Amino acid sequence: MKTMVNIALPKGRLGEKVYALLKNAGFSCPELEESSRKLVFENGEKGVRYFWVKPSDVSIYVERGAADIGVAGKDILLEYRPDVYELLDLNIGKCRMAVAGPTGFRDSAGRTLRVATKFPEIAQSYYNEKCRDIDIIKLNGSIELAPIMGLSDVIVDIVETGKTLKENNLEVLETIVPISARLIANMASMNKIFCWNF
Ligand code: PRP
Repeated sequence: MKTMVNIALPKGRLGEKVYALLKNAGFSCPELEESSRKLVFENGEKGVRYFWVKPSDVSIYVERGAADIGVAGKDILLEYRPDVYELLDLNIGKCRMAVAGPTGFRDSAGRTLRVATKFPEIAQSYYNEKCRDIDIIKLNGSIELAPIMGLSDVIVDIVETGKTLKENNLEVLETIVPISARLIANMASMNKIFCWNF
């Protein structure tokens, strides 16, 4: 029986782009292209089993071996530091991690900076390097709202087109790191991957 390689795809536009790349490489799965509420799709002939996962959960599936390979944003890899191999920069899903705040914001070193973010580890290590005291306010979404409503001074968040910032009178103050989608693999799956259909 053919070895099946389990592939965790991030739900959404990025996952669809990744599937298109894999399809072009010869690993199509017609079942996946039909809209349905199924979560797992197989092409036994090609030896692939795809499943859709919440983007921030892909690295958990791969780290624990429930998926052999997956695609995760560099933001997730930096924040959660999963024990996985990072095989390839796919050069898609490009954006940046940045500090943003109200247009014209000036930091005043005399007081603790309030930072709202979904990425507390990235924010903390960025400000540790600058020896800047911060108070992290962990949020789960709509981060841009925090400085507007006075919950924080600045945010550390993903900026892709910059449209959300602009429409809310915020601007990038500092770029922390460029982000893109990475192909990741479970450490114990490498043999299986190398013996695959390549
Ligand atoms: C992300 C990010 C910004 C926005 C940036 O949010 O957190 O809010 O996209 O994109 P832009 O620069 O192209 O405007 P997401 O859409 O993931 O939703 P969220 O607010 O729930 O985090």
